[in-house]
Amino acid sequence: MTPAAASSPIGCSSGPLSAIDTDLLVVPWFEDEGLGAVPELDGPTSGEVARALASKEFGARAYDLFMTPVTDGSWRPRRVALAGAGRASAFGSDFVRRLATAVGLAARQRRIERVAFVLRADMAGDTPLGELAQAAAEGLTLSEFDAGSYKTDDPPPAKAPAWTVAVRAAAADALDRVTDAVARGRLLGECSNLARELSNEPGNTLTPREFARRAEAIAREGGVSVEILDENRIAELGMGLLLGVARGSSEPPRLIVFRHEPPGVAAGPVLGLVGKGITFDTGGISIKQAEGMERMKDDMAGGAAVACAMRAIGLLKAPVRVVGVVPMTENMPGGRAIKPGDILKSASGKTVEVINTDAEGRLVLGDGLWYARQLGATHLVDVATLTGAAVVALGKITSGVFGTPRAWVEQVQRVADRAGDRVWPLPLFEEYRDQLKSDIADFTNTGGRAAGSITAAMFLKEFTGGLPWAHIDIAGTAWADEAKPYLPKGPTGVAVRTLAELAFTSQQWKLEGKS
Ligand code: BES
Ligand code: MN
Ligand code: ZN
Repeated sequence: MTPAAASSPIGCSSGPLSAIDTDLLVVPWFEDEGLGAVPELDGPTSGEVARALASKEFGARAYDLFMTPVTDGSWRPRRVALAGAGRASAFGSDFVRRLATAVGLAARQRRIERVAFVLRADMAGDTPLGELAQAAAEGLTLSEFDAGSYKTDDPPPAKAPAWTVAVRAAAADALDRVTDAVARGRLLGECSNLARELSNEPGNTLTPREFARRAEAIAREGGVSVEILDENRIAELGMGLLLGVARGSSEPPRLIVFRHEPPGVAAGPVLGLVGKGITFDTGGISIKQAEGMERMKDDMAGGAAVACAMRAIGLLKAPVRVVGVVPMTENMPGGRAIKPGDILKSASGKTVEVINTDAEGRLVLGDGLWYARQLGATHLVDVATLTGAAVVALGKITSGVFGTPRAWVEQVQRVADRAGDRVWPLPLFEEYRDQLKSDIADFTNTGGRAAGSITAAMFLKEFTGGLPWAHIDIAGTAWADEAKPYLPKGPTGVAVRTLAELAFTSQQWKLEGKS
């Protein structure tokens, strides 16, 4: 599959709801609101809105949907849906994004062709209208993702509805304030969906070479320059950690480099994005159990996030230089595979005793982080499905974030919050480093069961050269095991929007000292 063809833009509208030409007009509604919230809806639905509210048929709990036809011929919308927005205290752009996805999924299921999602400025509190509009556009776009691409018996999935974001606000300039935001949200949603497509792709089709080809196409279309390093070039650079992991496979490794160089921004900080690109993780000689191993096709979700964020960064013309690095390989137990006890030499010169070949992500990222520094990165962020321990610590809701200095980690955390990617910090106290002591090499690649996510991050820290660095462990968040109203089962596209948005915050990067 090549990158999805440019999809239709999301329409924007302000003005009276009665004038919006749509099949379904979706109006968010708080739990404790009466008819007075949007009084103009009652007449045209022949009193159905008032009745549903009074009878509690519609309770406005989060993601509830109540649909009713419009009977007034002077109204252009054919139907109205009230969409449950729950309690006002939980309302914000994060919720709007989810509500829009839930509405979008419901509309697609019903094969509705045109949907207008109403943003009520009166619900927003302090949140700027533009931020809400962007989130709504992201949410609607996220509802377009389809995980069943290899099904041959099912009817083809319904084509995505034509979306409109309709602002209901008194301000005369409301439409101006949301138009750009909606386009931005559309694009970021599309880039998230491209990352989901890549993560969903099985290991037999998405080999390292194929991953590199697709990632190249995705980023090139965004105006980003791309270079693919093959196994010979990787060897010349001395990347013994990446080569070590690749030894067990007959598929050769690749390392892809993305560069975003906005004109006239020669000096200043360079954001370095590094993503784990294991196209399938069997564990290698320290092989994983069979149960659930199929999930390890998404062990390149971090790399996909970097590639797709680079596309967004290029298309949105981020005002800072960005380099992206994704080491790509399978982790297989072939006859030439690395074995426990083997020593690998990293490109940075440090030696690693491999205790467990299933701790391969940190190995390839070690060389990847080093290379991002060689390319001039001044601020590093890596994203990786790195440890099962992250799932134990934070579950499937929240990614772990680690790094130094604190101000940089907090910056990443702030951006992630806004982007709708939940992250939470875990500590990197020096004492944890003791768990990586080796008798024979500079350090080991595993630190035992205790604090498994932290020792993995401590390993990565060895390759960051003291630069500001944040590591996001998405092992729990890259894949949804259970469907939610706002998120179907399957790949989530986590971290794409965070990485892309981070490239728009460079003004805020120099405030901090060390922590
Ligand atoms: N890709 C896995 C981590 C993972 C586990 C992601 C579950 C998603 C769900 C990683 O390469 C791995 O195998 N980590 C090991 C490290 C251990 C051997 C120190 C783990 O977490 O068990
Ligand atoms: Mn592994
Ligand atoms: Zn892995």
